[in-house]
Amino acid sequence: MKRILSGMRPSGKLHLGHFFGALSNWVRLQDEYQCFYMVADWHALTTEYEDTSKTAESSMEMVIDWLTVGIDPEKSVIFRQSDVAEHAELFLLLSMVTPLGWLFRCPTYKEQLKEVQNKDLHTFGFLGYPVLQAADILLYRANAVPVGEDQLPHLELTREICRRFNNFYGELFPEPQAILTRSARVPGIDARKMSKSYDNAINIGEEPDAIKKKIQQMFTDPQKIRANDQGHPEGCVVFAFQELYNPGAKKIESECRSGSRGCVACKKELSEAMAEALKPLREKRKEISRDKKLIEKILQEGQKKAAEAALATMKDVRKAIRLK
Ligand code: TRP
Repeated sequence: MKRILSGMRPSGKLHLGHFFGALSNWVRLQDEYQCFYMVADWHALTTEYEDTSKTAESSMEMVIDWLTVGIDPEKSVIFRQSDVAEHAELFLLLSMVTPLGWLFRCPTYKEQLKEVQNKDLHTFGFLGYPVLQAADILLYRANAVPVGEDQLPHLELTREICRRFNNFYGELFPEPQAILTRSARVPGIDARKMSKSYDNAINIGEEPDAIKKKIQQMFTDPQKIRANDQGHPEGCVVFAFQELYNPGAKKIESECRSGSRGCVACKKELSEAMAEALKPLREKRKEISRDKKLIEKILQEGQKKAAEAALATMKDVRKAIRLK
């Protein structure tokens, strides 16, 4: 079986953007690949180094969400990056061959430096973010990496570092391919990209009352002012979610277009449909969160399997570098 590695930085509870943007893909890939799914807690430190008080808890919450949506510890290796120290060793060795220009030119680096105002990201660790990511992937000799579009520059850098390393020391690593997520991007309640930092997200385990409140705040078609105005479902956030969660979405679409359905009624129906559709996830999440020991155990098992694969690679790498 070919291998996959993917990871996410622990940011606490996950939302429907994570679900449609990545996790639904991860779940599906479990049957076709040997999958390693990693909590990228060291990557979180590249930006959260000043306050690490929430990182451990966020890692746990994230794993709870992974298990909730069907990442299965019987099929996949679920582990924490910081539990496998070989990530740091390979990061160091890859850093020796990585030209600074590649890192300074990385579009995500330039963008974040400009956009993130409340943190000082002029650090070696933050510049080296893509090198650590390359180490994550190459350490497992992953053939493929499921990622969203935003991660493509990092994957391209991984492939470049991989080729350069192989050139110097021999064919140690396969060149990893990107598996792009096919599913559509879900909008946040304000029509921007769903993101925790925009405060526009609906969480995977969201309670019905909170779902209702958020749907009430959702942006609709700005041209539909009165209930009987003719509406334009394309571009309406409520309708985007109707399509995902309401089997009656087709009927709603034509009623909205003809002006026979108002937004208030539309939102009410969506609240009910989503509360119902998300009920199994909500209940499963509660059940899993009750058993913190089980999660620790899954991470311990994951650590063992990940470390075994990582050590096998590092044995070859150490030999190829010929320090002794
Ligand atoms: N940079 C990724 C993100 O922010 C997280 C990540 C870390 C990752 N290591 C990885 C993703 C390795 C894929 C493969 O989403």
